[in-house]
Amino acid sequence: MTKQVKSRQRVADHGEVFTADREVNAMLDLVKQETERVDSRFLEPACGDGNFVAEILRRKLEAAKKRAIPPRKKKPLPLEFEKQSVIAVASIYGVDLLIDNVIACRERLYDIWNAEYENICKKEVSEDCREAVRFILSRNIVCGNALSLKMVDEDGNDTDEPIVFSEWSFVMGTKMQRKDYRFDKLLAGEYEPKAATKKKKRVDDEYGQMNLLSMLEEKPSDEGEFLTSYVTDYRRVQDHGQ
Ligand SMILES: C[S@@+](CC[C@H](N)C(=O)[O-])C[C@H]1O[C@@H](n2cnc3c(N)ncnc32)[C@H](O)[C@@H]1O
Repeated sequence: MTKQVKSRQRVADHGEVFTADREVNAMLDLVKQETERVDSRFLEPACGDGNFVAEILRRKLEAAKKRAIPPRKKKPLPLEFEKQSVIAVASIYGVDLLIDNVIACRERLYDIWNAEYENICKKEVSEDCREAVRFILSRNIVCGNALSLKMVDEDGNDTDEPIVFSEWSFVMGTKMQRKDYRFDKLLAGEYEPKAATKKKKRVDDEYGQMNLLSMLEEKPSDEGEFLTSYVTDYRRVQDHGQ
């Protein structure tokens, strides 16, 4: 367990008092089923160095192991575990004002993931996948102000840049889609699903052979606006954007 207080100054300036393991587990048990679902999304708006998100990741990785076990077998399939574990990481989000906490949180989550990854996948581990997970963590655990919903600079002061979160999902086989949303608009409900428009049907009719991938690279007609969308192999998500 990390220390609950780093310094009196940090408590005074930022209310930085970390939650003990026992309370973390008791609180997470209130939503136990969700914490044990690989793809349920969690956001910690003042994540510190990750006491809550670390435990959520541990629980999700246990679920990922179970999901990767084929029928009538006992051990998880390495490649299936790899995919499931990427989903587990990609569904956890955090915001903190202090860059040292953000970095510590990303590293902590990475180390938890990597230990299980090596444990299950052994010689089949891939450096590309490790890079992909580092990249996902760099986008999901952000240095920002959860009240103003802006990114902050190294001194914890607001910038003009809005916090942007990525939604990650497998769209087919090993293809992973990333869609970026502004956090302020998400909270304002500006991304509410819209009724399906006629455009999709017209496109389908005109180009009957259009494949799923090219459709997904367009704005899907049954969802609201988002900033950008990328589709790529899940081990290469780091090739797109920052
Ligand atoms: C009380 S600690 C809790 C950390 C962690 N959630 C835990 O329970 O162990 C509060 C954290 O919130 C961060 N914080 C304070 N105000 C914030 C804000 N407006 N936006 C984002 N993070 C903030 C601090 O930097 C600190 O890391």
